[in-house]
Amino acid sequence: MDVQPLHAAVHKSRDARQRQTLPRLSPAERDALIKKFHPDHRQAAYRPIAFGPNKGDLTVHELASILEGDSSIPDDLPLVPDHVVDVLVVGGGGAGCAAALHAHGQGADVLLATKLRLGDSNSVMAQGGIQVAVAPNDSPVQHFLDTLKGGHMKNDHQLLKTMVEEGPSIAKWLLELGVLFDRDPDGNLHVKKGGGSTRERLLTCSDYTGLEIMRVLKDEMLNQRIQLLEFAAAMELLSDDQGACTGAVLKDLDNKRFVVVAAKTVILATGGIGRLHIQGFPTSNHYGATGDGLALAYRIGAPVTQIDTFQYHPSGGVYPEQLVGQLVTEGIRSEGGHLVNAKGDRFVNELDTRDVVSSSIIRECEEGRGVRTATGRVGVWLDTPLLEVESGKGTLEKHFPAMVRQYERYGVDIRADPVLIYPTLHYQNGGVKIDVNGETPVKNLWVAGETSGGLHGRNRLMGNSLLDLMVFGKRSGLAAAARGQTIVQGRLTLNHLQRFRADAKQHGVTHQMVSPMVLPAYTRQ
Ligand code: FUM
Repeated sequence: MDVQPLHAAVHKSRDARQRQTLPRLSPAERDALIKKFHPDHRQAAYRPIAFGPNKGDLTVHELASILEGDSSIPDDLPLVPDHVVDVLVVGGGGAGCAAALHAHGQGADVLLATKLRLGDSNSVMAQGGIQVAVAPNDSPVQHFLDTLKGGHMKNDHQLLKTMVEEGPSIAKWLLELGVLFDRDPDGNLHVKKGGGSTRERLLTCSDYTGLEIMRVLKDEMLNQRIQLLEFAAAMELLSDDQGACTGAVLKDLDNKRFVVVAAKTVILATGGIGRLHIQGFPTSNHYGATGDGLALAYRIGAPVTQIDTFQYHPSGGVYPEQLVGQLVTEGIRSEGGHLVNAKGDRFVNELDTRDVVSSSIIRECEEGRGVRTATGRVGVWLDTPLLEVESGKGTLEKHFPAMVRQYERYGVDIRADPVLIYPTLHYQNGGVKIDVNGETPVKNLWVAGETSGGLHGRNRLMGNSLLDLMVFGKRSGLAAAARGQTIVQGRLTLNHLQRFRADAKQHGVTHQMVSPMVLPAYTRQ
């Protein structure tokens, strides 16, 4: 479809819009808007969890089914270990790599298992940057306050304090490993501002920050010769007679056989759940984001927290079809890109928090001011050419080269024409409950990164995810390695699975889906 005639209003209103400033909403206005339009407030999308550690808590149907799901493992599976290690890390994204590298650095014998290839993760797809308080006018305290406000004051204070305070040392570690963050002409680290932040705090590598960080972490994993199992999906955890975690059963996806790993400690870093397509939303997430770690942790008895809140990133692609749900980085709005409805009007301060911006976009579309494509999708415009007008020709190519290419492949020149966007399922705000070292209430089980919950409250700020991965990946790796030095390998049993199955039966839950899902339901199995 030619969307050209549809965006004439955007070009026409550009001059007038440039002279306009839109105030941010008052707290009361924000709350009312979110309550009315944010997908987290659609009651029909939620149901109580039937049994287990969070029995009775509300979450979306898709996640409730995963948590209540049955294992693919028979509970009489022979548990003869194929591998015996100090630390098993499950997941090959940023948190998994950070955990494995730090545990290995402490002398632990580490095995990293990942269901796809090393690096296949949301981390590698992160575009807009990593928040670290390094600018002279900034501080961890300011970072703490911005994040708390963005999270609607529901963030776990201890987790948040830990993250913001460790930010600068994480930036130093990444720089020492060789990450090429953008710099000013005088050589200082260049920092940008993200939505909901009061200071410039994002360290970036153009619009492929995650790719650059993962380039270095993957390289380091290989340099350190850390044991790696690719295409090995975790299907069940193992526990001893006291319920402590003692390893995992993996599935070798190439040879379709189970692999038993005896591990003194286990770190789950399996990422998010975008591929569950909650409420039918498209997603910015990678193929493997099916919430595996949540299911595994829940079955062994680890409670989850804040699982009634999800992040719908304001700018997911709507057109062309090949880019539906794909991320259009918030960086474009940080550099001045306007959101514009079908009438050519701005309708929200583009740098308000994501839940506010997404709710505003949904409102515009529901109230008839959206733009409809030939395939029946609806969205609003993101005025990308405005960046060329305001900051000079070549700005998009210089600051957003990946985005320019991504659209060019499908014949859209974002330097000349705006892009159509709509909220896309981006992040799970909650997850498995952890302490400041990433340990769960289940002994010897750690969780790091998006699989964990509590840090971000009810709305995560841009760039805080990459920092979360690094800080809690590191802390989990260090803590698990230290624990491994003080304990002996526990017995390998599936006692917790037997208990879980009995619990399901007692609560009348039958015909469960099998979880972890491993790959999205629409994937060729
Ligand atoms: O818009 C973005 O670049 C996304 C960043 C993030 O979710 O942290």
